[in-house]
Amino acid sequence: MKITFYGHNTLLIEVNGKNILVDPFVTGNPLVKDKINIETIKVDYILLTHAHQDHVLDAEVIAKNNNATIVSNYEIATYYQNLGITVHPMNHGGKWTFDFGEVKYVNAIHTSSFADGTYGGQPGGFVIDGGNKTIYIAGDTALTMDMKLIPMAYNIDLAILPIGDNFTMGIDDAIIASDFVACNEVLGVHYDTFGYIEIDHDRAKKKFSEKSKNLILLEITDSIEL
Ligand code: NI
Ligand code: MN
Repeated sequence: MKITFYGHNTLLIEVNGKNILVDPFVTGNPLVKDKINIETIKVDYILLTHAHQDHVLDAEVIAKNNNATIVSNYEIATYYQNLGITVHPMNHGGKWTFDFGEVKYVNAIHTSSFADGTYGGQPGGFVIDGGNKTIYIAGDTALTMDMKLIPMAYNIDLAILPIGDNFTMGIDDAIIASDFVACNEVLGVHYDTFGYIEIDHDRAKKKFSEKSKNLILLEITDSIEL
């Protein structure tokens, strides 16, 4: 499994020969928009954690360019189905085996509405089990006790957690979240994009290492291989 960081919560995951894009927000991200051309992104699936603009902005264009399937909660899936896009609706606690692996839509505590005010269902995160490696993508969320349910069913190899604070968990709660999901390897997301969520990278990494955990912060377009 290869994971490439496209800024904010946007990730390209290559697993079992398929390309999966998570929460595409490129053209509206000042840190990313000059580095990535969305017209060149090749994907089979787009996973959306919730309906906020900073997670779905480029989903319609990329899905249509690629004839990709959007996977999200029922309300978000229906929204894109009405735009003529192929979708796979899910809801919390449900899992499905796709041709690249198993996906479970898990709980998050946050809000979820489209930019035009359309209801976006309840927000979630994803567990992706690719067979050899399993990752947890928290999405935008507070620290929540529900995270403790995840390691009861999965051995998580990488936890992808928001760390920017203000709209989501910050560093200190993300450290606790990594305990809850029983994974000491954390890829930080949802930081630096806007003024509210700028963080001190060295301080964040130090806080994790003091708890014997590893915080990975990738440069835009850099990857990690699991
Ligand atoms: Ni959000
Ligand atoms: Mn967000």
